[in-house]
Amino acid sequence: MDKHLITGGVPLLGEVRISGAKNSVLPILAGCLLTDDPVIIKNVPHLNDVTTIMKLLGQMGANLTISEGLTIEVEAGHVNVPYAPYELVRTMRASILVLGPLLAKHGQAKVSLPGGCAIGPRPVDFHVEGLRQMGADISVDGGYIQASVQGRLKGANLKFDIVSVTGTENLMMAAVLADGVTTIENAACEPEVQDLANFLNCLGAKIEGHGTKTIVIEGVKSLKGGTYTVLPDRVETGTYLVAAAMTGGRITTKSTRANILEAVLHKLEEAGAEISTGEDWITLDMRGRRPKAVDICTAPFPGFPTDMQAQFMALNTVSEGVGVMTETVFENRFMHAHELRRMGANIQLNGNTAQIEGIPHLTAAPVMATDLRASASLVLAGLVAQGTTIVDRIYHIDRGYECIEEKLAQLGANIKRVQS
Ligand code: UD1
Repeated sequence: MDKHLITGGVPLLGEVRISGAKNSVLPILAGCLLTDDPVIIKNVPHLNDVTTIMKLLGQMGANLTISEGLTIEVEAGHVNVPYAPYELVRTMRASILVLGPLLAKHGQAKVSLPGGCAIGPRPVDFHVEGLRQMGADISVDGGYIQASVQGRLKGANLKFDIVSVTGTENLMMAAVLADGVTTIENAACEPEVQDLANFLNCLGAKIEGHGTKTIVIEGVKSLKGGTYTVLPDRVETGTYLVAAAMTGGRITTKSTRANILEAVLHKLEEAGAEISTGEDWITLDMRGRRPKAVDICTAPFPGFPTDMQAQFMALNTVSEGVGVMTETVFENRFMHAHELRRMGANIQLNGNTAQIEGIPHLTAAPVMATDLRASASLVLAGLVAQGTTIVDRIYHIDRGYECIEEKLAQLGANIKRVQS
């Protein structure tokens, strides 16, 4: 199993290119199942989760061709196995995103239930209930969701009790080929949901209202092929900016967009960073200063993203003052706090709230990644700790960060990957 070895104390300086968004490319690749025609996806990040969804589509019968590093061509005209096995779904919950497209296009699907994960129970009941309301016959048996529909799915008025990102995406994809109009109320407004809608519209779908709480989808009989470029990854962008802020550095993130992470930029400014932005870049300058602790409360977009909570906890551990962090999106998303404490962090946990009193320096220790964003927070902590931190189980980080050690090393960090 690979590990990261990080020797802290170097302020990050320079420029880093941001990759395409993991949470956009996964639903977009699943969305390719909705058309028989070839689709070309650009700005695809090289990530383990992308490999997983490609395997999933490939074993269903889709042809996938990777060209020029960042481009994938998908042809799903020969898909004949509408099946997502447990072996793949258990490694990536987002595999559930094939359920809506398979059902809409092929009238049937058998998809493993994702099960629990390190950040809480994360059920998929909204996905299943929404598809039922669209006329699907769904049973859950032997750990699998078995879904079928006679003819086309039917347009319906759907309403989420709690905002769900992949739930909105799954139902939006199902509705694209349904008979009639579907309305999704209390829909997720995340930029990745908007990106998926823009992609589907580029193939001929009729989706309106994406980016607002009400999405309206007029079903069409079929989608055509097309070419689409994936949105930049706002979480990757935010992670590098936090790294620069913690180390007292100055970096520019390129090929990204400031308007997809305003809540994060606002908190970095509150922590004392100077931020400037252009059309496709963000510069953060924290040279010569220690960050100030910030209070965070996670919420659906445009609120502060839960996927940046762990990184800001790492920032707060070395900031001046006390920061209170409240996690409202997921239960049990403070696993990283226990590992950060092993590096000397002063963190008090109370239910879904963490109080962090900043200390001048963390101390290097062997730590273990428990989920994707938790592992990012441990790498950030390693960048400022005195000594050499060993982060184990970094397969979590490889799910969502393209070439993280190369990118950090390019910014001057002392980090390398070793095999146990
Ligand atoms: C997506 C993101 C993930 C991010 C999360 C919240 C992808 C691939 N993953 O995950 O990175 O952290 O949004 O921004 O895009 N819920 C239910 N029943 C359901 C569905 C969700 O109770 O059927 C609950 C969840 O347990 C959670 C909340 O709704 O408490 C929000 O989860 P959701 O937005 O669905 O997260 P994901 O789409 O899995």
